[in-house]
Amino acid sequence: MSAENILSIENVSKVYKSAGKELTVLNAINFSVTAGSTLAITGPSGSGKTTLLGLCAGLDRSSSGIVRLNGVQLDGLSEDERAAVRNKYVGFIFQNFQLMPTLTALENVMVPMELRGLKNIRAHALDLLDKVGLAERSHHYPVQLSGGEQQRVSLARAFSNKPALLFADEPTGNLDAETSEKVEKLMFELNRDAGTTLVIVTHDLDLAMRTSRIIKIKGGQLISDESN
Ligand SMILES: Nc1ncnc2c1ncn2[C@@H]1O[C@H](COP(=O)(O)OP(=O)(O)OP(=O)(O)O)[C@@H](O)[C@H]1O
Ligand SMILES: [Mg+2]
Repeated sequence: MSAENILSIENVSKVYKSAGKELTVLNAINFSVTAGSTLAITGPSGSGKTTLLGLCAGLDRSSSGIVRLNGVQLDGLSEDERAAVRNKYVGFIFQNFQLMPTLTALENVMVPMELRGLKNIRAHALDLLDKVGLAERSHHYPVQLSGGEQQRVSLARAFSNKPALLFADEPTGNLDAETSEKVEKLMFELNRDAGTTLVIVTHDLDLAMRTSRIIKIKGGQLISDESN
């Protein structure tokens, strides 16, 4: 791994076993990501994009291969150790949001900052909600929010601990054109101003074209890797 790679994936595979059968969802994937760069991952539904993102972010473990995040090899770590690495370096925008149902929008955004022991987090969380256009919804619970609104809370939460790496799984998948543009602007600002590395799974070609590199996945294999 060269020093400037914030993420490197070597020969990573993921095999699920169900009903006595093995299903290879990712097959020997290799790529590295330079710190401060932007990358899009595209591919058909079911091709393994969400699985791959989860492995890169340390949410899940590979079946074989090596995942290094900011110089830390994730494969040998326990669940708790991986959680600590995630909290320190990673922001994640989930395809299905994964907000805590018992917390308000504001409280959801505050969680990563609380875990890090940061100060003045309420004001910062409100500011982030304002940036995603949800200042008026800060006291709503997830069930009281539309899909797109939940997605924007998820975004504000992912931004909150100023991650070195932001993983976004279809971040604009549920948003109208105007809100998509807002959200994209925020992500690329984070990249430009804070040097946050962006790894974005998207079906949106316009969004993919805004990144500096596009990786295509098909049937669990990396089929192309090109600079924009
Ligand atoms: N826990 C699991 N057990 C068994 N198979 C799984 C599991 N999770 C995912 N899969 C399978 O792995 C494949 C890849 O899923 P994944 O969610 O990574 O696809 P994706 O590329 O993100 O698709 P989409 O564009 O629809 O979000 C799918 O065929 C899915 O059914
Ligand atoms: Mg997916």
